[in-house]
Amino acid sequence: MNFGLPVDNVLHGDCIEIMNALPEKSVDLVFADPPYNLQLSQDLYRPNLTLVDAVDDHWDQFGSFGEYDRFTRDWLAACRRLLKDDGALWVIGSYHNIYRVGSILLDLGYWILNDVTWIKTNPLPQMRGSRFCNAHETLIWAKKTRDARYTFNYRDLKAGNEDKQMRSDWEFPLCTGRQREMLDGQKAHATQKPEALLHRVITATSKPGDVILDPFCGTGTTAAVARRLGRRFITIDREETYVGIAEKRIASITPQVDEDVPELVDAPNPKVPFVQLVESGRLPVGSTIRFKNTERHAKVNADGTITWDGNRGSIHKIACLCAGAPGCNGWSHWYYADPNTGQELPIDALRAKPKPSDGQMSLWSDDEAD
Ligand SMILES: C[S@@+](CC[C@H](N)C(=O)[O-])C[C@H]1O[C@@H](n2cnc3c(N)ncnc32)[C@H](O)[C@@H]1O
Repeated sequence: MNFGLPVDNVLHGDCIEIMNALPEKSVDLVFADPPYNLQLSQDLYRPNLTLVDAVDDHWDQFGSFGEYDRFTRDWLAACRRLLKDDGALWVIGSYHNIYRVGSILLDLGYWILNDVTWIKTNPLPQMRGSRFCNAHETLIWAKKTRDARYTFNYRDLKAGNEDKQMRSDWEFPLCTGRQREMLDGQKAHATQKPEALLHRVITATSKPGDVILDPFCGTGTTAAVARRLGRRFITIDREETYVGIAEKRIASITPQVDEDVPELVDAPNPKVPFVQLVESGRLPVGSTIRFKNTERHAKVNADGTITWDGNRGSIHKIACLCAGAPGCNGWSHWYYADPNTGQELPIDALRAKPKPSDGQMSLWSDDEAD
């Protein structure tokens, strides 16, 4: 329920004033792409002397760092009031502003979960040849407080990433071509973000039906992607032109929501060597394992080898001897007796991740360290 919350709307006005008038703890996720405070003092030209369409808009102008910091503190505080206790915030920026923003959000009590680097696969060259080509932006992902819960669709992300953990360096091209909003034959906005970037953020850290707030709407990228992914949105811009552009863009989006997504089938158990089961005490040294459908029992040795009938070797080598076959997968052919139930299970079951409630240290390298 969102009492008094104007969901699925583009609001026109100053985001701080508007956010302060909305009901507290009503938003699940914030994505903010605030002014960069680029402080450009000169026009930039390409080698062929054409003018670069740089971010010199009046919405990016601030009188001083102090003024920018006050503005940053006010909008970050307004977002924090609006966030549910288990909500989270993303903010994107460049070296011009992200350090100031990061420091202020920590001062306000947010707790940083990750910083993510968006690596631009097609960055603009550095025109003057006086510095490195600036080929990335930084996103900060933070929760409301240190102890707060938050949404992270870890398993879905990993499954979609061919069972590899999703990393914090993301490669996407700049927003170009047909995705770019145009106005009178020109780019409608200097800093339109790619939809793929928002797709990653929203699928990773929100659930269908969640309310996503973007206080700096621009062309409405966050809202458009949120709508496509079956989330609700509130977005704000103080420029009337951008509000109109965003409304038109969002209205053209058809939600692509699959109502019937089945539970995730778990990936095969993570690859850990047999010796780790012995080292962790899951298969104690000297315990026995039984070869499938036989009365052949092998003894587990301290170094992760097993011994059967005077032969010592890996679980696979000894399985081959027992089966009389050139190849045999030990993980599925050796059985151990569960100490609690007495039930016999393939040793592969021991590689399954322990649940956090097990209170055990995890064996597996893909467990979070923090
Ligand atoms: C960096 S752009 C956002 C671009 C957007 N992410 C996109 O993909 O199109 C920042 C936007 O914030 C708006 N803005 C700046 N200050 C604002 C304020 N105080 N209240 C509301 N909007 C503001 C600007 O008009 C500008 O469109």
